[in-house]
Amino acid sequence: MKIANQRRKFLSQLTAASALTVVNISPLKASVFEPMQQGEHRFLTPPYLQVLTPTSVDLVFLTSNKAYSWVEYGEDQLEHKAQEESDGFVEAYQRINNIHIRNLKPGTTYKYRVISKEISLFKPYELVYGKQITSEQYSFTTPVEDAESVTCLVFNDIHDRPHSFKDLMAIRGEKSYDFAFLNGDMFDYQEDEQQIIDHLLLPVTTLFASEKPFIMSRGNHETRGKFRREFKDYFSYPTDSYYYSFKQGPVYWIILDTGEDKPDDHPVYAGIVDFDSYRKEQALWLEQVTQHEEYKRATYRVVMMHIPPFHSGDWHGTLHCREVFDPIFEHNKVDLVISGHTHRYGVHPPNEEHTYPIIIGGGPKEGNRTIIHFEANQKNLIIEMKRDDGQVVGEYEIKK
Ligand SMILES: [Fe+2]
Repeated sequence: MKIANQRRKFLSQLTAASALTVVNISPLKASVFEPMQQGEHRFLTPPYLQVLTPTSVDLVFLTSNKAYSWVEYGEDQLEHKAQEESDGFVEAYQRINNIHIRNLKPGTTYKYRVISKEISLFKPYELVYGKQITSEQYSFTTPVEDAESVTCLVFNDIHDRPHSFKDLMAIRGEKSYDFAFLNGDMFDYQEDEQQIIDHLLLPVTTLFASEKPFIMSRGNHETRGKFRREFKDYFSYPTDSYYYSFKQGPVYWIILDTGEDKPDDHPVYAGIVDFDSYRKEQALWLEQVTQHEEYKRATYRVVMMHIPPFHSGDWHGTLHCREVFDPIFEHNKVDLVISGHTHRYGVHPPNEEHTYPIIIGGGPKEGNRTIIHFEANQKNLIIEMKRDDGQVVGEYEIKK
């Protein structure tokens, strides 16, 4: 009910905003979440779920002022409290809150809300609290251990068009999903926090992210702009790295960060990127991962990478991804690669160049945007890609 109310509010904001349809502005800038007085302590975003496992979750939320913030949660009542602690401190006097809840039960639904108490004065021997605020109540369900199946939605190449989340969710259909995967280029470049709030966090929390987790995987455009380093502060990753792996359902997931599309010495990067080394570092890591028993035993091995190693032109990023990753995919029986980047959606079955299928989502303009539904169980893995007019434009099945 509360999510529905927020959704209505957000949709009306978007209706006004979409008339602007200019890519690099923040049309929601003046309308964040609730009315405010200047300087008043408030939530800048509802809480959103990150890294949901059978026994833990990270809850992230932003506040306008520095505060002491915590989570209250439980199965029936909100009887438990979680807060971040390190070095003997309770984490406080901050605006970006990322609270890790552990010791959850697998396959269990929890209610929760977040609370934030402004710290209006912080002197060495005198701390004064200001306004205390409480979020709506939400719920989430932990996955079961060794689940029989896993489902997800894949978005890619939204490119600073926040209304696309709503448009694509509207045509996705009724199929269930455990999480949403944002497969790169949600933005054109990273400018500031307001852009992340308006163009990603508010749209996805309005639609699902307070109750279903999402994975923000980096594309080549998230590597650009003066706020590129701060970007990671707004999300959680299992090992605090943009590349990692995890097992959920019958799938061993490999998440790669394919970096930039042009050579590192291109003038636009001004000498401050080194993605060739970074991709080689990931290739070394991937070689090790593919030797793990869990990888070898998995029913399916799926790679998520923004720049596909084929069907993506001959720019440096594509060719270097092909050079360093493709031999590892080939030698270690990768079942599927899901990418974006090209802005040309397509299903590319195995061919003489690659023995694994490559699914590429479209975007970012109307008529070319796609949403992918992924489902894998012990019998088969099924991909369905829908275009923003609701038409199915790509299907693929792997039988086991
Ligand atoms: Fe893109």
